[in-house]
Amino acid sequence: MENKKIIIAIDGYSSTGKSTVAKQLAKSLQYIYVDTGAMYRAVTLFAMRKGYIDDNHFDPEALENELPSIRIRFEFNPEKGLADTLLNDENVEKEIRTLSVSRFVSKVAAVSKVRKKLVEQQNEMGKAKGIVMDGRDIGTVVFPNAELKLFMTATAKDRAERRFLELTERGEKVTYEDVLKNVVNRDHIDSTRKDSPLRKASDAIQIDNSNLTLEQQFEQILGLAKNAIKNA
Ligand code: DC
Repeated sequence: MENKKIIIAIDGYSSTGKSTVAKQLAKSLQYIYVDTGAMYRAVTLFAMRKGYIDDNHFDPEALENELPSIRIRFEFNPEKGLADTLLNDENVEKEIRTLSVSRFVSKVAAVSKVRKKLVEQQNEMGKAKGIVMDGRDIGTVVFPNAELKLFMTATAKDRAERRFLELTERGEKVTYEDVLKNVVNRDHIDSTRKDSPLRKASDAIQIDNSNLTLEQQFEQILGLAKNAIKNA
């Protein structure tokens, strides 16, 4: 009998390695990987370019009014073997990963109308199952009936170190202190916002990867996924 396809929801704090493990899982199971953080980042980039958000002000209403004109989609990049993020048909994959977008994204992601639009799109993407989706509210709001839910944690220090390495390897000029501050600040906004705050779903399995190698983590999670598929 052919294996049933399931939905795997991965939530957790920023820079806990959610996307790394989600990509590994999707590749190994031949599932589709969806990075929902990229969608919030693309809306944030749109708002920044329009001048709706900067260090001194944020105009959520102006952004809400323009939501119908924001189209976000993913396009497979054969060179990377992964999808790039497109904002109104422009490839913004690189730009959305910068620390400047990270600085504003939690504020944009707290806007209910932004969330509503993106959650609808995410629900649509999961209709056929066979999907690994990572974010903050996947197991609680987007797919409360997902067959496997994971909640990833690691210490803020470990996460900031990983994110700092990633950014500097990409050539961004950032300090470790700024990255740590951003990680802590986003955790705070993401978990205290009114709409869909980051929290562990009651039936999610918590994985603290502070002391796990990537291989150990992947083996553990692949085992959980195979089990969930068997029981689906
Ligand atoms: O996963 P990430 O760091 O790229 O996500 C960027 C931000 O987007 C994160 O700080 C909170 C927000 N986000 C969210 O609110 N809900 C999601 N499902 C995914 C991300």
